[in-house]
Amino acid sequence: MPKKILITGGAGFIGSHVVRRFVSNYPNYEIVNLDKLTYAGNLANLSDIEDRPNYRFVKLDITEAAAMNELFRTENFDGVIHLAAESHVDRSITDPTAFVMTNVIGTVNLLNAAREHWKGSYEEKRFYHVSTDEVYGALGETGMFTESTAYDPHSPYSASKASSDHFVRAYHDTYGLDVVISNCSNNYGSHHFPEKLIPLAINNIKNSKPVPVYGRGENVRDWLWVEDHARAIDVIYHQAASGQTYNIGGHNEWKNIDLINLLCRIMDKKLEREPGTSAKLITFVTDRAGHDLRYAIDSAKLQKELDWVPSLQFEEGLEKTVDWYLENEDWLNNVTSGNYQAYYENQYQNR
Ligand code: NAD
Ligand code: DAU
Repeated sequence: MPKKILITGGAGFIGSHVVRRFVSNYPNYEIVNLDKLTYAGNLANLSDIEDRPNYRFVKLDITEAAAMNELFRTENFDGVIHLAAESHVDRSITDPTAFVMTNVIGTVNLLNAAREHWKGSYEEKRFYHVSTDEVYGALGETGMFTESTAYDPHSPYSASKASSDHFVRAYHDTYGLDVVISNCSNNYGSHHFPEKLIPLAINNIKNSKPVPVYGRGENVRDWLWVEDHARAIDVIYHQAASGQTYNIGGHNEWKNIDLINLLCRIMDKKLEREPGTSAKLITFVTDRAGHDLRYAIDSAKLQKELDWVPSLQFEEGLEKTVDWYLENEDWLNNVTSGNYQAYYENQYQNR
């Protein structure tokens, strides 16, 4: 059945992969990408699909309640896949309020608009909230997060995402809104903003600049290829029962220092440098405040119920990611110089 789906945050890293997947795989759907285009939003991420007839972009801020209500009134969406967020933990430490505004208030504004417009007839309507494993807090040396792990967020970022998850569930329990939530581990892949560990390290190694590793690099993250995340979102959006939560992860734990050493070896090979050249750039720096030691996701529920498993081995995926950054020097240069923000002005405002 044709559907009109609002995807928020579609100009960001994961959002752009989700938009591309839905626009390409569902030509009979109408996909509306809503994004404020903050520093993290980049319409060049979608230049390959921006002219498709089933795709549209709207520049709006989810913190503006009246604008959200008006959008829902005029567009009559069948579903929402909500990814728009402030996403970087380090930024949340310096400016927590921005995270409360977008991640909590923005999510509640969307929930209110959906509830108001759908008016209790939630047949064929769905609100999907894309969330993070960071809501569960930190693990010690062993164990994994399951869907029943108690929330224990530590950073302002994870506290804001935990709060938004609670609001989404509350709207299901209180008003009967059809909701689904997924909590995913660290993503990697193309179009990742170079403030996050992997693209930052690729960019710095390429430019022979220091690669900052927090503390002693002992923290562990579970890495998942972004296109596997987008596929999981597709499967959950279409097949999950209302009110369900799914954990999404790569079964792929790496200590930061081991990951960076692997990346250094790949970069030496790709840049045809002497083995060991890139590793000399590794610089241990002051640790992140409240740095969670370890994340690991148990995604058995998703595998068992919806038959999803990651498709790509990490070493292969990391090499693919490095290739993308080296082949897309313009994208990286535009992002690091700030020029990408002119893309919207040129491509859209003059139409
Ligand atoms: P990102 O920072 O790359 O993109 C976020 C997008 O949201 C940007 O395009 C930005 O312009 C937009 N945005 C921010 N504030 C907005 C506002 N007020 N109104 C409208 N748009 C706004 O983030 P990402 O890494 O792609 O993450 C996307 C979602 O997935 C987030 O909700 C994040 O919490 C979640 N998530 C991310 C990861 C990860 O590893 N990156 C893992 C699990 C979950
Ligand atoms: O787990 C899911 C989360 O993964 C998402 O919800 C977040 O939106 C996403 O940003 C990511 O959070 P992390 O804090 O884990 O990602 P980041 O790339 O910032 O850091 C990964 C690890 O590397 C973490 O242990 C901190 C460390 N780090 C990070 C940076 C930027 C460094 O050692 N040096 C760095 O320069």
